Amino acid sequence: MLFQAPGSTGTPRRALRMARLVFPTGFHWGTATASYQIEGAWNEDGKGESIWDRFTHTPGRIKKGQTGDVACDSYHRIEDDLALMRAMNLTSYRFSIGWPRIQPLGEGPALEIGLDYYRRLIDALLDAGIRPFPTLYHWDLPQALEDRGGWTQRDTAARFAEYAHLVVRALGDRVEDWMIFNEPGIFTTMGYGIGIHAPGRRDRDELLAATHVVNLAHGEAFRAIKEERGELRVGTAYSMQASEPAGDSEADADAAERMHGWLNEWFLKPALQGTYPDIFPGGLPEALDLREGDLERMRAPLDFVGINLYSRGLIRAANDDLLGLDAQMTGMGGREGPITDFGWEVWPDALHDVVLRITSDYDRPVLEITENGCSYADSPGADGKIRDLRRIEFFRGYLEALHRAIEAGADVRGYHAWTLMDNFEWAEGFEQRFGLTWVDFDTGERTVKESGHWYGSVAANNGFEA
Ligand code: FCB
Repeated sequence: MLFQAPGSTGTPRRALRMARLVFPTGFHWGTATASYQIEGAWNEDGKGESIWDRFTHTPGRIKKGQTGDVACDSYHRIEDDLALMRAMNLTSYRFSIGWPRIQPLGEGPALEIGLDYYRRLIDALLDAGIRPFPTLYHWDLPQALEDRGGWTQRDTAARFAEYAHLVVRALGDRVEDWMIFNEPGIFTTMGYGIGIHAPGRRDRDELLAATHVVNLAHGEAFRAIKEERGELRVGTAYSMQASEPAGDSEADADAAERMHGWLNEWFLKPALQGTYPDIFPGGLPEALDLREGDLERMRAPLDFVGINLYSRGLIRAANDDLLGLDAQMTGMGGREGPITDFGWEVWPDALHDVVLRITSDYDRPVLEITENGCSYADSPGADGKIRDLRRIEFFRGYLEALHRAIEAGADVRGYHAWTLMDNFEWAEGFEQRFGLTWVDFDTGERTVKESGHWYGSVAANNGFEA
């Protein structure tokens, strides 16, 4: 097999111009969403309060004081969302299950009315020939569990495994592919280390403790799902970034390697190889509270690895970073590529390089691209059309890079654009629009953007003219 060294750009782009890029037979074309970002109905039908409800209802946390109380109102608009997916010829839909809809307080029996919402969604997807592709946890922890310490408490791992049992027992007859977590690295870092996401804590030791509990929870949930139904395929959607040295020095190169271990492997390696990456100059931090038997409990031989990727990271050697990694990343990407409205650099090779690095370091696992996309605020013109041409360019670039990685030997089974429609973008509120569909947040009305039509043709043709 031919693996390219990370960092190499592969076939020159020009040589591919006007070539027809065809993806493997049966490749899944999808979009991704998350419960809190789209559902609304935050206190309906017995749903419990989540840490995101509490966080957004706390003044000063979110831009303009916006909340996901209504969001895209997807809780009441399954048919509208399905119509968008059909219009885009999608064959896969990644969504998440809101834990507090199933267990309002994070423990106890499952709420049937909450499960019913997801049953209706899943059945509608199956009727439309679209693969339901759920994530058990996309950040909306029941507030009652946060009140008892949240992800820093080992008991939360046991609660999560119980929740996994309940959900899979109820829905495992109609869903074959599952994800456990969405971006464990981001929700722990942003929620417990930096504090700009729920629950808003800022403490290095709590962050490290949370990462370890999440790794334990991941192993436990994996086994819970397999105990319920051994035939189901289970993965997780990891946040990843190409970790590149900011300068030419050896120190920066070493720092970038350590940061790769933190950004891309801190949760993957425990699952697949039963160890933490050896990246802390002072050895494994005590704050992890690693106990006898934990390494075994973290193991989860996943059926596939999900990759969420938006950009690269430029890394410098440093000795005053929060974590004690002696490495620091400045912003999302560098400043050579185009910059999206969120300030993230467009850098398609990041996807190529990360996909090949994981392919070669983890013995060619089955991969799914579980998120990739960009924020541009292009709004409806006088004729009602949304000409978001920069978004089309973005997807062209990243899909071409992904295709190169597949040609070089990566086993990629699907691609999910973030996101089906504009939605509640966490601390940014509704300002950052990542959707293939425009949403009027006053009326809930949805209009497919030009990028959505373009993506629909890619899905229909299983490829495009590059
Ligand atoms: C990812 C999240 C997703 C969305 C995109 C823009 O980190 O998984 O919910 O916010 O970023």
